[in-house]
Amino acid sequence: MPKKINLNISVTELDSENELSEKEQELLRAARKATENAYAPYSNFLVGAAILLESGEIITGTNQENAAYPSGLCAERTAIYWAGANRPNQQIISIAVTARKAESNEFLPVSPCGGCRQAMLEYEHKQQKSINMILEGGNGKIVLVESIASLLPLSFTAKSLK
Ligand code: THU
Repeated sequence: MPKKINLNISVTELDSENELSEKEQELLRAARKATENAYAPYSNFLVGAAILLESGEIITGTNQENAAYPSGLCAERTAIYWAGANRPNQQIISIAVTARKAESNEFLPVSPCGGCRQAMLEYEHKQQKSINMILEGGNGKIVLVESIASLLPLSFTAKSLK
């Protein structure tokens, strides 16, 4: 008998960023500021990611596009690979992601692409501790995600290679 299995994803919605802790607000501000450094001449879609490390340090990344389109990289991966390369022993606490169009100051809801979810999940497994996400929810709202794993059910992991 086929058995249907439901996989639920739950996120938390906040009415306003004021409900975030001071440090989380700082992280979101850093992600928003980082959009100024996005290199997105082809999409004009500026994405900023900011990573909070256990030391309190905040690292930012932005999308980096290329004339050979697939060679570009998303903001989340730019940031997390920088962290992995330069702060390999620091735990990642949280990642904030935001985006806006080049000609606008309005920050838009953005949810990480599948490739970035996979990349971020790797670091969650590496540190054996959940990484929280802070996302724009639109209309001033904020969406909180408790772990990368919750965004990527049925994921491919190191276990699959054994
Ligand atoms: N992009 C990101 O940086 N992060 C995402 O999660 C989704 C998409 C970038 C890739 C490309 O430079 C632009 O947004 C349009 O897809």
